[in-house]
Amino acid sequence: MIKEITKLKEEISGSLGNVADMESLDSFKLKYLVKKGSIQALFDRMKEVPKEDKPLIGKELNLLRKFAQDKFNSLSEKFKRAEESTPDIDLTLPGRAGYIGSRHPVLQVLDDMVNVFTSMGFDVAEGPDIEDDHHNFDALNFPPDHPARDMQDTFFVKSDNGLLLRTHTSPVQIRVMQSQKPPIRSIMPGRVYRNEAINSRSLAEFHQVEGLYVDKKVSFAELKGTMMIFACKMYGNDIDFRFRPSFFPFTEPSAELDISCFLCGGGGCRVCKKTGWLEIAGCGMVHPNVLGGCDIDPERYSGFAFGFGIERVTMLRTGIDDIRLLYENDVRVLEQL
Ligand code: PHE
Repeated sequence: MIKEITKLKEEISGSLGNVADMESLDSFKLKYLVKKGSIQALFDRMKEVPKEDKPLIGKELNLLRKFAQDKFNSLSEKFKRAEESTPDIDLTLPGRAGYIGSRHPVLQVLDDMVNVFTSMGFDVAEGPDIEDDHHNFDALNFPPDHPARDMQDTFFVKSDNGLLLRTHTSPVQIRVMQSQKPPIRSIMPGRVYRNEAINSRSLAEFHQVEGLYVDKKVSFAELKGTMMIFACKMYGNDIDFRFRPSFFPFTEPSAELDISCFLCGGGGCRVCKKTGWLEIAGCGMVHPNVLGGCDIDPERYSGFAFGFGIERVTMLRTGIDDIRLLYENDVRVLEQL
């Protein structure tokens, strides 16, 4: 019996070397420490042991069980601690690169436009998004029955109080002329709103940069020169220009500025709709009625004004053909622009 106890102890000591985790420790317990385990099997045979040997054998058996139980306890403690302190991660995985944010493409274009104009001596003015009918239409020489006032184009805040979301940045011209005396040289970037169906080329909310120059003897030639210098700084010196006659109630004469398509060089492509030309701004000489309405004598002063759509310029620069992509806020798209 003593021999068997010694043998089992050796076996237990040997098998401890194979216990590397909770799972193998469980097998260890099942083999030796449960009621049907090998240690208990030896205890069960105590009845065969002669009376005088019982104290010795019993003591040895108890020592054996304590030995196995102690080993079991300390290993189980050790594995539990290891489990708690080892987080469930693979430290050999390569790290994830963090996102580096950048300004939205529309704001990048806006910043560039502001930089070009401020380098030419323009300052930056701002006005409210919620305007009154007077600044948005009346003071800009819109006749009372002009279609742009129509419910279909304008978002009215409340139909009875004359407040509306500005449909263009031109009302800021009025605010600047009402609060400053010539010479005035300002650009006015901002958000504008139109009750338009949203599609690949138009949104109900977009941005414009307005420009205004009022002084003595300001001429159409200066307007052309300013626009051309701006376009060269934005698109390079190789582009061609053309001014097409147009109409705005607040400018006379009025023109639309086209530049040769810098994507195809004027040969015709998808972006310029095969015309070779891109429309980039409305402009003209400030109407005498508008100057007079702001207490600026049209006999002594003249001025020019222009307006760019910023999303349009952004689309041309980034080469996207759907304006909605700019505002869907899909990072996969924006990080490519
Ligand atoms: N306000 C005009 C528009 O929204 C653009 C414009 C601005 C035209 C200034 C002429 C002068 O279409």
